[in-house]
Amino acid sequence: MNVAYEIVGHGPALLLLHAFPLDRRMWRETAASLADRYRVISFDFRGFGESPMGDGPASLERWADDAAALLDTAGVPIASVAGLSMGGYVALAFAARHPARLGALVLGDTRAGADSPEGKKGRDDGIALVRSRGAAAFVDPMPGRLLSARASEELKRRVRELGGSQAPEAIAGALAAMRDRPDRTGELGAIACPALVMVGSDDALTPPAEARAMARAIPGCKLVELAGAGHLANLEAPDAFTRALGDFLDAESPVD
Ligand code: MLT
Repeated sequence: MNVAYEIVGHGPALLLLHAFPLDRRMWRETAASLADRYRVISFDFRGFGESPMGDGPASLERWADDAAALLDTAGVPIASVAGLSMGGYVALAFAARHPARLGALVLGDTRAGADSPEGKKGRDDGIALVRSRGAAAFVDPMPGRLLSARASEELKRRVRELGGSQAPEAIAGALAAMRDRPDRTGELGAIACPALVMVGSDDALTPPAEARAMARAIPGCKLVELAGAGHLANLEAPDAFTRALGDFLDAESPVD
């Protein structure tokens, strides 16, 4: 499966996994800021951005396997892997399925647990909505949940544009994949590489208390809370996000 990807910069490899319902364009600022010392790889999950849907149902595990295949294509044996929100679910799947490829793990504004029954119901409602009314109608109210109350109108517009440009079937497939994802809480103690959990202090979807619990469950894990940022913390606090990520990687990431 050929996914759409881009690679910028030189140095140890850093693979960035995007959130829902966005694509690799959400990493523009992060990638540009770290390209002076990292080889930053980002890609669109199947069906999102410029990647084709491919066959079969969307699955977080498949996307994790696509990530490993992309590292093969790029000639990268071991990478630091950073995922935000849905990208964090994929990063955890990657950690479970490809532990030998993982140099360091960064989990941003995400959780290890499965959806609650109400959460699963919300996914089903979302699938019905996006199929009947399209991506823009589904995405339109999302900035209110994905961003803090302080977010600029320009950023809200960018999130709506990114999300509204996705194929409805990609959104529906990702909703089903997230609804059906396993509870990986019990796997956190087995993560053997350096790890960092980051969370926006105003993240209403995956709040700081959950991030703290997740960080406590991963041996030696560091925790950074980004003051004033909501769920899409890398978009809302790009400088603080990149600084925290870069400081962690500079200290921990393997050298190619
Ligand atoms: C995301 O930002 O990727 C999503 O909010 C994750 C989710 O809906 O669980």
